[in-house]
Amino acid sequence: MATQTLKKLTPEELKNIQGIIISGYGHLPNSEYQFLATSDTSLAKNWLAAIIPKITTAHRPDDENGKKKKPGCALNIAFTYAGIKKFGPAFVSGFSQEFAEGITEPHRTRRLGDDGNSAPELWDIKEEGVHILLIIQAPNIEERDTFSNELKSDYTRFGISLVKSEYGNQPPNNKEHFGFTDSISQPFIEHSPATPKGTQSCVRAGEFILGYHNEYELLPATPTIKATDDKNDYLPGLSTDNNLKDFGCNGSYLVFRKLYQDVAGFNSYLDANTKSAEHKALVAAKFVGRWPSGTPLVISPDIDIPDVNDKNNFFFMNNDAKGLSCPIASHIRRSNPRDSLAGNQEQSIKTVNRHRLLRRGIQYGQPFPGGSLDDGQDRGILFLCVNADIKRQFEFVQQTWINNPKFGDMYNDRDPIAGNNFDPRGDNSGKEYNMTIPSSVREVFTGIPRFVQVKGGGYFFLPAIPALKYLTV
Ligand code: HEM
Repeated sequence: MATQTLKKLTPEELKNIQGIIISGYGHLPNSEYQFLATSDTSLAKNWLAAIIPKITTAHRPDDENGKKKKPGCALNIAFTYAGIKKFGPAFVSGFSQEFAEGITEPHRTRRLGDDGNSAPELWDIKEEGVHILLIIQAPNIEERDTFSNELKSDYTRFGISLVKSEYGNQPPNNKEHFGFTDSISQPFIEHSPATPKGTQSCVRAGEFILGYHNEYELLPATPTIKATDDKNDYLPGLSTDNNLKDFGCNGSYLVFRKLYQDVAGFNSYLDANTKSAEHKALVAAKFVGRWPSGTPLVISPDIDIPDVNDKNNFFFMNNDAKGLSCPIASHIRRSNPRDSLAGNQEQSIKTVNRHRLLRRGIQYGQPFPGGSLDDGQDRGILFLCVNADIKRQFEFVQQTWINNPKFGDMYNDRDPIAGNNFDPRGDNSGKEYNMTIPSSVREVFTGIPRFVQVKGGGYFFLPAIPALKYLTV
C-alpha cells in the first residue's frame, strides 16, 4: 500500500476511524463499558474478526433523505498495552511510554495526584488484568442490554472473560451530579464531518488522530510493525521508513477514569462556607466557571441566564483578564485557559490547542437526592478522553493546570472540582488548598476537600479498522 502523508479526513479514512473519536453519540445516553480479559489468543482473534464488522466507524452513510444516518447503537473497542501484546501477531513498537507503562505506574500516580482515597489499590477497576475495553452506547437500557447480552453470549466460547462492567447514563439535561450542565465545550477537529462548516477555531486532526498533522505541524509518533510482518497488507506504509508499517494510523489513545463525586461533601462545604442560598449558588458557579445552565460567567457574571445562544463563544482576556467574572482557579479556566495564558492572546490559543481533550465520558449512578447528608450511593463520571498524546494532553491538563497550586500566578489553589485537594489519607495529608474568588470583594475559600475521587482508570489504544484486522492474524 502506498506511503501517505495525510492531511484530510476523507470518506475512506472515516471508514477506518472508530466512531467515538469523531462523535460522543449524544443521542445514545446509555452505556456499558466492558473490561475484558482473554486467556486464549487464537480464540480471541477469531472473536475479534467476528466483531470488527459491528464496530461503529466515523463514516456515516446518507439516509433516504440525504441526511447523515446516526447509528442506532454504537460499539467501539480499545486495548491495553498488555492486550495489544497478547494479540500480536508480531511485536508492535513505538507506543508512547505512558501507554506502555500504564496509568498506575507509581511516578505517574504521583503526578496525577492519585493518592489517599484515590490510590489505585482502592480502585474498583484498573487496567491490570484487562486486555480489552468495549464501549457500548445505546438509546435506552433495554437496547443496551440486548446488545450487551448478544456480545456476552460469545465470550465463553472464545475464551474471553468479563472482568467488570461499568454502566453509564446521561440525563437528558446533561447535568453532572454537582448540578452543572456538562458536555458543552469540545474542540472542533479540522476536516471532521462533525465540525460545522466555516468553523474558525479548529484544532488540527493530529491532536486526536494518528496519521494527521498536529498543532506542531508534525505527524504524531505512531506505533509500527516490520513491513514483512503484515502478510495480508492491511496496514499503510510509514512515510519515513519503507521497512515499517503504520499500526497507529487513524487510531488514537483513550484515557479512562472513574471519578466518584462526593455531592453531599460538595453541598455541605458550600453550606458551611456561604452566607445565603444566592451566595452558595454564586460560589458553586465560580468553582466551575459556568452557571448550572452552562452559561459562562464571562458572559453573565452575576446571574444565571439560561437563554444564551452560543454558550461556548467566549474568551477571557478582553473583558475578564483578572478573573473577576470567571476565577482563574475555576475548573473551566484551568482545563481550557483559552486566550489567558501568559503571553499574548494569539500565542495562548496556540499553546492551549496543544493540550486539548476530546471528552467522551458519561455519568454513572443515580442523581443525588439533595441536601448535605451522604446517601452512601456511588455516583460520578466515567471520564473518557481521546488524545493523540496522553502525556502532552490528558496528563498535562491534570498535572500542570488542574492540580497545580501555582497555576495562573495563584498561590495555593487547585481546581476545586477535579483537583487533588485535601484528602486525610493523601500523600499530602494535612496540606490544604484554597479557592480564590477575585470578585469586587475578594473571597478565599480555604481547606477545599477533595470532592472528586478517582475510583478507576486505564490507558487504552483505539486502533483503526485495518489495525484491528492485523490483530486478528
Ligand atoms: C467528576 C469530575 C468532573 C466534573 C464534575 C466536571 C465538570 C465539568 C463541567 C460542568 C464543565 C463545563 C461544561 C463543559 O464545557 O462541558 C467541564 C468542562 C471541562 N472539563 Fe470537567 N469535570 C470533571 C473532571 C474533569 C477532568 C478530570 C478533566 C481533565 C483532566 C476535565 C476537563 C474538562 C475540560 C477540558 C472542559 C472544557 C473546558 C472548556 O473548554 O471550557 N474535567 N467539566
